Amino acid sequence: MRSPITLPSWQRLAVLANSKQPHLRDLLQDESRAASMHIEAAGISLDFSRQRLTREVWEQLSALALESDLMAQAKAMFDGAPINATENRPALHVALRVNAQSTPYWGHAITHDVLHERGRMLALADQIRAGALRGFGGDRITDVVNLGIGGSDLGPRMATQALAPQQDFPPPVRVHFVSNVDAWSLHETLRALNPASTLFVVQSKTFTTQETMTLAASSMRWLSDGGCPSEALNRHRVAVTAKPELARSQGFSDAHILKFWDWVGGRYSVWSSIGFPMAVAMGGTAFQEFLDGAQAMDQHFLSAPLNQNLPVVMALCGIWNRNFLGATSYHIAPYLHALRTMPAHIQQLDMESNGKHTHRDGHAVEMDTAPIIWGGVGLEGQHAYFQLIHQGTHLVPIDFIGVRNETLPMPLAETHLAVVNTNLQAQAQAFALGRTPDEALAILRTSGMDETQALSQLHHHTYGGNIPSNLIWMNALTPGNLGALMALYEHKVFCQSTIWRINPFDQWGVELGKAMVRDLEKKNKH
Ligand code: F6P
Repeated sequence: MRSPITLPSWQRLAVLANSKQPHLRDLLQDESRAASMHIEAAGISLDFSRQRLTREVWEQLSALALESDLMAQAKAMFDGAPINATENRPALHVALRVNAQSTPYWGHAITHDVLHERGRMLALADQIRAGALRGFGGDRITDVVNLGIGGSDLGPRMATQALAPQQDFPPPVRVHFVSNVDAWSLHETLRALNPASTLFVVQSKTFTTQETMTLAASSMRWLSDGGCPSEALNRHRVAVTAKPELARSQGFSDAHILKFWDWVGGRYSVWSSIGFPMAVAMGGTAFQEFLDGAQAMDQHFLSAPLNQNLPVVMALCGIWNRNFLGATSYHIAPYLHALRTMPAHIQQLDMESNGKHTHRDGHAVEMDTAPIIWGGVGLEGQHAYFQLIHQGTHLVPIDFIGVRNETLPMPLAETHLAVVNTNLQAQAQAFALGRTPDEALAILRTSGMDETQALSQLHHHTYGGNIPSNLIWMNALTPGNLGALMALYEHKVFCQSTIWRINPFDQWGVELGKAMVRDLEKKNKH
């Protein structure tokens, strides 16, 4: 397998990157260029006109996708080929999005298993929502506490936080998330809850993660101390895992063990029973819409031409920024409060998948792989760290994420949305255009400064601009659109891994720390 840097398109891109390229200020003058750089699919629209792409650059990026066999690799993933070679298994999270009408092209057995397990999961969620599952004293379950970390926390946490506020209020069941084994984290949640009406969901693919198992043990102790007899513990706990035998050996009842499979990576598992807390918070219909939205994005990814393909275009822009323009980090700026934890989810998805130094064939990479992903709610960033992006010494490309329409029972909701979206658009434009020294000087002069003062202030008021960004819009924040958005990022990450020729589905890096903990524990015992 050749390194991507030997590909003709890669080498031409390197030449282009070293030659003088037009500033975004000039590129954005061309209205027909800007108009052509919009794509819409599955309820998501992308405006990528603020990427530093000329026609020549775009041609070579498209060639890179072709020379990398991108779509053949995508097909291999969807077909269930064992593309996770270091663990010798497929990566079939896309199969979790099937519905009863889908063609079972991942094989009938998998489709059947997925639908069966989803049915069990949604039935249990409905039982809890309806108050049919009762605690040890006969009380209705009012609070569900999710115990899990990494992919067993971030995806479901983000999606629940995003969508649950749109449900009826007060909710039939409140859903909480605890991931940190620091006792304060659990205490902070539990001190407001009643053991008689609380149910714990122990989410762990491996069912061995030390932090989650410690949280689970402590929670069981809290239930017992709160009066729950040992024979009633199972009414207060559900296990979600790819290792049902381990949950069983710890006493969980079969009816409360929800299964998923080792061919689902943790960070890709929100579509499986790991989505259980979401289903409890918003019900089965909304959960199914969430899956359907992701499946609509899957279909778009598989069928749209490369230059109209949302994940492919976002991946190629990212490669240009990372490998050729030298951007070491990447900023995710959702402007919706509902998506406040999305940067953390994308951080795991992207960095745990593509933070690799080894090609699929075992050789060390000779080019950069995943950037450092960071982010936060855009409006908060504007009043804090956006300073560094505007005038610091790093090039930081940005994804601005917004929603066009909202239905909210507040009289001034439209005013709020207008303020949010005007700010989003203004920031994207400010990052692209910047402010030239001439423009800055004119402003300083009109502010009444004399020439000496104006010149001494000039550099402080100059902005280089030329900072690439995507504007990603959802028409509305619905379960379907959120599913599509999350699937879009999954496929973007996959496309980049294909171009870099790395395996995005293993995570050997995080194993070292776990081994060290085991060693330290052994030493401390002696
Ligand atoms: O340590 C990393 C990791 O394995 C992630 O990949 C995973 O999402 C997380 O830990 C939780 O793992 P589990 O679901 O097995 O508890």
